[in-house]
Amino acid sequence: MDKFKAIVVNQVEENFTRELQEVDISFLKDGDVTVKVEYSSLNYKDGMILKNGGKLVKDYPHIPGIDFAGVVEASEDPNFTKGDKVILTGWRVGEIYYGGYAQYAKVKGKFLVKTPEGLSNKDAMALGTAGFTALLCTFAIQARETILLGEPIQDVLVTGATGGVGSVAVMALSKLGYNVTGVTGKKDKEEFLQKLGASKIIDRSELDQPAKPLEAALWDGVVDTTGGQILAKALSQTKPNGIVAACGLASNFKLDTTVMPFIIRGVKLWGIDSVMASAKRRQFVWSQAANLIDFSVLNEVVQVWSLQDLIDSSSKILKGEVSGRVVVDVNQ
Ligand SMILES: NC(=O)c1ccc[n+]([C@@H]2O[C@H](COP(=O)([O-])OP(=O)(O)OC[C@H]3O[C@@H](n4cnc5c(N)ncnc54)[C@H](OP(=O)(O)O)[C@@H]3O)[C@@H](O)[C@H]2O)c1
Repeated sequence: MDKFKAIVVNQVEENFTRELQEVDISFLKDGDVTVKVEYSSLNYKDGMILKNGGKLVKDYPHIPGIDFAGVVEASEDPNFTKGDKVILTGWRVGEIYYGGYAQYAKVKGKFLVKTPEGLSNKDAMALGTAGFTALLCTFAIQARETILLGEPIQDVLVTGATGGVGSVAVMALSKLGYNVTGVTGKKDKEEFLQKLGASKIIDRSELDQPAKPLEAALWDGVVDTTGGQILAKALSQTKPNGIVAACGLASNFKLDTTVMPFIIRGVKLWGIDSVMASAKRRQFVWSQAANLIDFSVLNEVVQVWSLQDLIDSSSKILKGEVSGRVVVDVNQ
């Protein structure tokens, strides 16, 4: 293994390029564990980085790809040995460290989680960063019952429901037995969302409007991937002591709301950051993935792309044109 295939992005003055290249193994500079990558995936952030670095990449040339799953090839970290199946998401890999759009990656051992028994590396990337984030959101909502010992959860709302985070959240929340309402801007995706477990679908335009301080209380929990007016509306529609897990900004990074949902209904706004989640939390979430996700259903909404497909089509995710998840087979 002297050379391997990788997507390399580069910025020379005003000129941004992304190319599939053969690079030498000595190109990999950081970390103490070398992983033979099997699969990566496409997330919104990857779309931004592949477009123009997304103001996230500081040093060029650079290998993008914010997540991957593969097999340890060599390790200086005593916790890993050759042959271990591993998953990586977050830690700013693919941004400030070289990422997973390559046949090999080298990262710090503390960034890696061993792939749990019963989960394949392909399934891990069918979830990827988006799915891992969706599961963090799911556990945040479930905390109303488990940690706060509050009322049972019945009705939950998922915004950006056909996206990567949204579609996995719909699946996991319906698996927990909750009635899931999906919010989507895609009029033709009702069947898709029902297949994932949504019992009701709302058109995005109904929520993407100015909110009153308090509206009819409808939701015990919300997974919001959009921010902006939609999040403000969801907060004012959340039932007493409900939990709103906010993880995204697909609509807007701003939030114009009032304190009323918080002080009159005790609504909790729970921010989700998947990037710096602790190792313990990662291990727990990945260990639960096979219980919460029916992979035979998820795989129906997974597309498998090659590295070249990423170069050609990754901008689709920035235009909201990708439904479900894209798994990247780096060896295809
Ligand atoms: N906090 C974290 O750790 C973390 C981790 C992963 C992702 N994220 C963030 O979560 C968000 C979703 O990520 P993703 O990977 O699921 O992206 P994605 O696959 O592109 O999904 C986003 C979805 O949002 C909806 N949407 C798109 N444009 C919109 C607009 N202008 N207004 C309202 N809704 C819009 C679309 O769903 P519909 O057509 O069904 O409405 C789209 O499919 C992104 O903002 C991403 O940066 C955060």
